[in-house]
Amino acid sequence: MQQNQNDKLMEKLVSLCKRRGFIFQSSEIYGGINSCWDYGPLGVELKKNIKEFWWKHMVSWRDDVEGLDASILMHPRVWEASGHLDSFTDAMVDCKQCKLRFRADMVQGTRCPECGGELTEARQFNLMFKTHTGPVEEDASIVYLRPETAQGIYVNFLNVQKPSRQKIPFGIAQIGKAFRNEITPGNFIFRTREFEQMEMQYFVKPGEDEKWLEYWKNQRKSWYDLLGIRGEKRRFHQHSPKELAHYAKAAFDIEYEFPFGWQELEGIHNRTDFDLKRHNQFSGKDLSYFDEGTRERFIPFIIETSAGVDRTLLTCLVDGYTEEEVKDETRIVLKLAPHIAPIKVAVFPLVKRDGMPEMARNIQAALRPKMPVFYDESGAIGRRYRRQDEVGTPFCLTVDSQTLEDQTVTVRERNSMEQVRVNLDKLISYLENRLQIQISI
Ligand code: GAP
Repeated sequence: MQQNQNDKLMEKLVSLCKRRGFIFQSSEIYGGINSCWDYGPLGVELKKNIKEFWWKHMVSWRDDVEGLDASILMHPRVWEASGHLDSFTDAMVDCKQCKLRFRADMVQGTRCPECGGELTEARQFNLMFKTHTGPVEEDASIVYLRPETAQGIYVNFLNVQKPSRQKIPFGIAQIGKAFRNEITPGNFIFRTREFEQMEMQYFVKPGEDEKWLEYWKNQRKSWYDLLGIRGEKRRFHQHSPKELAHYAKAAFDIEYEFPFGWQELEGIHNRTDFDLKRHNQFSGKDLSYFDEGTRERFIPFIIETSAGVDRTLLTCLVDGYTEEEVKDETRIVLKLAPHIAPIKVAVFPLVKRDGMPEMARNIQAALRPKMPVFYDESGAIGRRYRRQDEVGTPFCLTVDSQTLEDQTVTVRERNSMEQVRVNLDKLISYLENRLQIQISI
């Protein structure tokens, strides 16, 4: 019963995303391509707001983290050094009968979960996408689409540290696409083959790594608090020795309770000096750091925070989606935190006459330089409110006959549906306060 409702919730979300222009299946007119998704007008705004908020929290509001935008294609030796060529694999099994392929840890027993056919022995399957640079497809021209953004940071450690004159401890942050040829993608945008990551690598003195791991766990927890994701739906999961990635000494996932169960939202890892040591060794370039205070030279340890943009966006949608009964009708509300909502304010003339549309257009023009604002004059006012509730717009303003007399508008708040009249000359500051605009701009 509960499972049924959870499946329905995902179906409703996928349908809302399509209907209202958040997310569409990629290449839909050709029948779509498995696990690839396109972000439409509202999806792209929401995604941008999430990324900007991450960037503010992790880079702009701090002195000790610098930004980077490294290229997706890197020297193939990077992936030898990082261990991805050897170890970035999933064990998979094939069904001998229906030919479907599964991750070995996802099937129980030796029979195919789809048709009951016999399964092959498990084989290792590398998750990196391969391609070629230049006109000749030969082994020497093989390159990989990066499976994580982190390596672009490690190989640029000194390139960033020197001009920025950062001293350890300090971090480098990056947002960008990553690609993994996942055997079992699914659950909408939860696990896809092309996705975006928001990663930060914090370089610390060996011996201080455990302290900084705790520090970053707390920082990341507060980011999700500010993002408005319910605390009771989140938890930390500590990796057991068996779960630890090849590079990690300790790792915590921030997990969220999705309709399909508790799943990883972000990984926070103590990567030790593994990455820099390996790049040091494979490139032959000295990547050690000289501490002028203590006159010591060492390879820093790295604490990593690694979040998925698409997974965070899905979390915001799942966490915010609510259905309420109002006057015998179901009201769908996307309770997004105001500072990430794609549209901040919608402006409506009550009717399409008596100067109300002109007045509403003037208000829209005054708000536009400050916040994303949407104008709508079509349909009954109740329907216009519902349309905005469904996409998470925190405020709707209605211009009515009183507006023309006393220069006040009705401001309706999305969650409570409460309405207050606000004077036009106080409107911008009223909205900026209530929209947490200080963290959104
Ligand atoms: N650099 C470390 C690293 O990449 P990870 O746990 O493999 O660690 C970090 O990935 C985050 O990237 C995950 O917590 C998730 O949010 C996101 N992610 C990973 N694989 C993904 C996929 N196939 N689709 C969408 N997001 C993914």
